[in-house]
Amino acid sequence: MPLAHTAADEAAVVARLRAAGCVFAEEEAALLLAEAATPAALERMLTQRVDGTPLEHVLGWAAFSGLRIQVDPGVFVPRRRTEFLVEQAITLASGWAAPVVVDLCCGSGALGAAFVAGFAGTAKVFAADIDAASVACARRNLDPARVYQGDLYDALPTALRGRVQLLLANTPYVPSDAIATMPREARLHEGTAALDGGRDGLDVQRRVASGARDWLAPGGHLLVEAGDDQAPVAAAIFEHAGLTARIVSSEEWDATVVIGTAGTGENR
Ligand SMILES: C[S@@+](CC[C@H](N)C(=O)[O-])C[C@H]1O[C@@H](n2cnc3c(N)ncnc32)[C@H](O)[C@@H]1O
Repeated sequence: MPLAHTAADEAAVVARLRAAGCVFAEEEAALLLAEAATPAALERMLTQRVDGTPLEHVLGWAAFSGLRIQVDPGVFVPRRRTEFLVEQAITLASGWAAPVVVDLCCGSGALGAAFVAGFAGTAKVFAADIDAASVACARRNLDPARVYQGDLYDALPTALRGRVQLLLANTPYVPSDAIATMPREARLHEGTAALDGGRDGLDVQRRVASGARDWLAPGGHLLVEAGDDQAPVAAAIFEHAGLTARIVSSEEWDATVVIGTAGTGENR
């Protein structure tokens, strides 16, 4: 049950958040007051937030595609822009019966969970991540029996080889040199492995692309997010790996997604 509070209590919370530099102090105050069950819990949460812990880690959840995705400390906070990738996946799968979907580099499992919620039908969603905390978290947002820990494809059951119709992979894609310029919240509270994509940010995408043809079903799709400047390079990587690539962007979401499609029959 949310904490009973007066307008003066709320104003005090807003003032502390604003003094700590929180841009959306009113919205954050409302969320913290709704989440805290006791004054002590509110104080604990406020202290964490004022110290710079991401709001989602303080609350224990992130809003994503209309869902509340549970997010544990240290786990990558799903970004709203990635809803665009999920929208693209749902569009590609329209009319498919029980598609096999893999959320690779799943973090909290937000993409898989949003796909399950948004797809008009039943989907078999599997997920994997290298990080133990992410896997534990994803097991609470997805069917726990289908969430695996390990390095990219090594984590997946071999029975999925050649059967994956949608491979969603929001890999780390920040160039190593740009990590230092990221907001403090991300640098300190999300692991380097969740952010650092190597020299040009595309190292993990290269590895995902090179294995994709073995795991995708004929006509299956690989979807990754990238920066605008990275997308043409990512598309070339996909083509080199034997996929047909296209780039889709959304101004509304400020997001760019590269989609690679495996051939069918003799095109494979
Ligand atoms: C940018 S985060 C994205 C998380 C989630 N897909 C999302 O969008 O909220 C990248 C994720 O990739 C995982 N990761 C990094 N390298 C990996 C690897 N070699 N194998 C599997 N997962 C990896 C990280 O642990 C992190 O959870």
